[in-house]
Amino acid sequence: MSENRGKFNSRIGFILAAAGSAVGLGNIWGFPTQAAGNGGAAFVLMYLILAFCLAYPAFMAELIIGRHGQANAVESLKKISNSALQKKFAFIVGFGGILCAGLLMSFYSIVAGWMVAYTVEPITTTLGATDISTWLKSHSTSRNLLFTFIFCSLTILIISRGVSDGIEKWSKRLMPALVFLLVALTAYVLTLDGAMEGLKAYLVPDMARLFEPALIVDALGQAFFSLSLGTSVIIIYGSYVSKQENLVSLGAYVTLIDVSIAFLAGLLVIPAMYVAAANGVQIFNESGALIDGDQLVLTVLPALFDTMGSVGVFVAFAFFALMSIASLTSSISMLEAPVSYTVERFSISRKKATLLMGALIFATSSLIIFNFDLLFVFVINLTTKYGQPIIGMLCCIFVGWIWSRSSLLEELKQGNEEAENQFFWKIWPWYTKLVCPLAIAIVFINSIL
Ligand code: ALA
Repeated sequence: MSENRGKFNSRIGFILAAAGSAVGLGNIWGFPTQAAGNGGAAFVLMYLILAFCLAYPAFMAELIIGRHGQANAVESLKKISNSALQKKFAFIVGFGGILCAGLLMSFYSIVAGWMVAYTVEPITTTLGATDISTWLKSHSTSRNLLFTFIFCSLTILIISRGVSDGIEKWSKRLMPALVFLLVALTAYVLTLDGAMEGLKAYLVPDMARLFEPALIVDALGQAFFSLSLGTSVIIIYGSYVSKQENLVSLGAYVTLIDVSIAFLAGLLVIPAMYVAAANGVQIFNESGALIDGDQLVLTVLPALFDTMGSVGVFVAFAFFALMSIASLTSSISMLEAPVSYTVERFSISRKKATLLMGALIFATSSLIIFNFDLLFVFVINLTTKYGQPIIGMLCCIFVGWIWSRSSLLEELKQGNEEAENQFFWKIWPWYTKLVCPLAIAIVFINSIL
């Protein structure tokens, strides 16, 4: 089986693919508004601390399980289990993660479909196709179905090509495009009236709020969501990493890129909101907080682009292209999780497995679209509030309590001979054993209360 498995051909390929999985709508959409509503730089500071002190260790736990197992999430977890009971537990955790990834993709691709539709809209507007533009911006079932289908098909196309020809190649193309668009848009927005006020709201810390429980819970939740923890995605990406690579530094690079892009997105989105305010667009809701969620991206920002005249068409196109690319680099990792399992478990070809899993996920998305009010928020909560923290916590428990320390160290030493004497090895095993499961449990309990 392992001879036929794909693998990342280069270090940069893995870093960009894993960073692509991490960088998504959560970074560009979720992070900036959470920061603005949670004391600006105080949130950014806490996010940085938690991302490196808690999310990174949990990320490493999943990465190392995958690299050791060199197989899908279920098999990788079974390989570190010592008894029949533990193997059953491994199945529940591994399969739970795969299910979580599939469910995550089923709502994520609907939102990503909106991003694709909004990318096309400036083009139809320029061409004078007003009816099509109105439909593209409508919340109709037909628009949602078509664009979710288009987005799922793009993801299926990339995943069906395999690890190096699909995931790696496309991550290497899409991630630089994403960074370019983000930097260019940020540079432009910062020159506009009102941007400096937004920059102040984002960057001037309200230190009194730094240790507010709600801020800490939000920051940790955001860090876990962003690094795609608890979805088995990092396990599967880890399984494609060569034994010659130093996992400790690979994981640190991915975390650093994820955090940097989130920070950069804040430099774009918050100032853009204040530019919109300077142009007469309402950016605060009735309770005085900054408008966030779908209203921010689908109402406030388009209203801003409309006030920019002909430049606004390009800015709108670039912004939604950026969102679509960020979604695509994340969704390919979500689809890879069930596809790798299906290929290895049922010995079927990657193309067949991709089509099958892609169709299943699209069918679930369609079910959500047809029952939007009932299912959309329910599925989001089920995966992000319950699934991800629970599976993420169980992965840490696997590494901290089930995997023998000597075997764990042996794995870590592959590609990093010095691992045993490094600071990482002195504290990480304890972190994974005690601090991470506890911290995740606290966030989980807080988020459901
Ligand atoms: N990690 C992905 C994101 O941040 C899910 O959007």
